[in-house]
Amino acid sequence: MVIKKHIPDLKERHIRLIGYVWENWVPLAVAAFCMVVVAATTSATAFLVKPVLDEIFMAKNEQMLMLMPILVLVLYVLRALAMYGEQYFMHYVGERIIRKFRDQLYAKISELSLSFYFRHKTGVLMSRITNDVNIIKNMVSKAVAGGLGDVFTILGLIFVIFYRDWKLAIIAMIVLPVAFYPIYEFGRRVRRFSTKSQESMAELNAFLHETFWGNKIVKAFGMEDSEKERFYAKNEKVFRFEVKTIKAKALASPVMELLGGIGVALIIWYGGSAVIRGDATPGNFFSFMTAVMLLYGPVKKMSKLNNIIQQGLAAVDRVFDILETETDVREPANPAALSPPPHRITFKNVTFFYDATEPVLECVNLEVSPGERLGIVGTSGGGKTSLVNLIPRFYDVTGGSICIDGIDIRDVPIKALRERIAIVTQEPILFNDTIRNNIAYGNPEADDHAVFSAAEAAYIHEFICQLPKGYHTTIGELGNRLSGGQKQRMCIARALLKNTPILILDEATSALDTESEDLVQKALLNLMQGRTSFVIAHRLTTILDADRLIVLSGGRIVEEGDHDFLLSLKGEYYRLYQRQFENGHDAEGAGSAGSMENSQ
Ligand SMILES: Nc1ncnc2c1ncn2[C@@H]1O[C@H](COP(=O)(O)OP(=O)(O)OP(=O)(O)O)[C@@H](O)[C@H]1O
Ligand SMILES: [Mg+2]
Repeated sequence: MVIKKHIPDLKERHIRLIGYVWENWVPLAVAAFCMVVVAATTSATAFLVKPVLDEIFMAKNEQMLMLMPILVLVLYVLRALAMYGEQYFMHYVGERIIRKFRDQLYAKISELSLSFYFRHKTGVLMSRITNDVNIIKNMVSKAVAGGLGDVFTILGLIFVIFYRDWKLAIIAMIVLPVAFYPIYEFGRRVRRFSTKSQESMAELNAFLHETFWGNKIVKAFGMEDSEKERFYAKNEKVFRFEVKTIKAKALASPVMELLGGIGVALIIWYGGSAVIRGDATPGNFFSFMTAVMLLYGPVKKMSKLNNIIQQGLAAVDRVFDILETETDVREPANPAALSPPPHRITFKNVTFFYDATEPVLECVNLEVSPGERLGIVGTSGGGKTSLVNLIPRFYDVTGGSICIDGIDIRDVPIKALRERIAIVTQEPILFNDTIRNNIAYGNPEADDHAVFSAAEAAYIHEFICQLPKGYHTTIGELGNRLSGGQKQRMCIARALLKNTPILILDEATSALDTESEDLVQKALLNLMQGRTSFVIAHRLTTILDADRLIVLSGGRIVEEGDHDFLLSLKGEYYRLYQRQFENGHDAEGAGSAGSMENSQ
């Protein structure tokens, strides 16, 4: 089914690839010219065998003895220059094409919606940008360079062959295609196995990424041996496909050589008898033989070239699979402008599915007034994160709509929408850059003062100042030295600095102790003034003072109101509250069952 779907695309993709090549037509033209020179000089070498043999060795012509070596020298100098030009310009084009592919892949992948990242493993995506593009480069440089050059050379040599003895040439021409058959057959196999080998290599990459990244858990659960076994199995798979590829590749040459050898034997028998009969000169025969021998090289290279093309085309397919992926979060056709803040956010009958199986959100109706602080609570997996992820359009709603001041967010340019939203995600995400740049992420023109105040408000400034390099320390230098709470406060500082009318805090204070939480809480309270805020928390103490609370359970809003009202309902909220209360703390300092659940 998949193959059928791909057949119509293939041609189109190859045409697109030719487009990439054609953009570089100037260096290509230079390279092609060099190829013609290489082909001409190679053929001339074979051509000259006749005068050398007949005039110098048979007729002992002294004038020719002076002329020929000089001519040969000139030919070889020309050939050397042309070979350099051919190699240089073809690889130059190859590298340029590959750079473009890498840029486009990265741009495309980073634009695709979050669901794409969930469908594809990070390691696989990485191997598209690093591995596959190299295979394509190989194809472009070697196939176009090698291929075109060899075609010219082959044509030149065939001319020499026919010119020297057309009858003998016809015999050779019948043998030659037989030698070409293995090229086709083995190429097909190589393509098949190399696709599988690349796929398993990508899987191996993904596995490495996962287990290195999650090494702490691997160790904590004593899974080293089991992960080793899994790695061995995956490595074995790569090995098996590689060996199959090698087998197909390795068989191609000997089979061709064997067939070629039969051809040469035939030619010696037929041509030799013509010389013995006196129908041809020895020079004629040897010139012919030289051309046939010289033909062998380029023809053999062409056989490898087919393998390279087959591998390359498979990689082209994988790359275009990504380049042609349509993002499911699209820019609006007729963009609308957002009104000035503060914003009213309305969910109308929102339904949301990650995949077709089960709704994660069902029939959510919610209106958050400008500047309102909405607290979202509920059981783990109830859909809280999913709900807020819809606001910056990390995903689009499956049914219903979300509006900001009456404008559907799908009608607002994505950049304009996200500019209005600051978010602190459930897992703190920092990049390997300086602390300053992490806090000023997306805000590079922010001055030091603004960065420091944001860090102060998030109660992380003091800690940063204690570091030897202060704000210029990179996250990588710190290694794992940052605690969960420190990371979280940096993320809060980053959101504070962005200073937007809409705020989303997904468990933003879950990794803080009660004391620093109190402090950060105050900072957040200040921050939320006048901003439409969505605050998710397991620890109910952190959102007691929200303007309104909603309780999400099984993807539905089951209760709604302020703290006292919800308690009086004696329903879901009451149970959540009760559970935290019973855990041995009073409501003020609840280190809760909820956050325990969350940290698992
Ligand atoms: N990327 C995803 N693909 C498929 N299903 C997902 C994805 N992310 C979450 N889910 C599912 O959606 C449901 C709601 O998840 P969500 O993360 O919104 O819950 P939550 O209320 O934020 O939970 P928690 O309090 O544990 O953070 C869960 O059943 C979860 O398994
Ligand atoms: Mg969540």
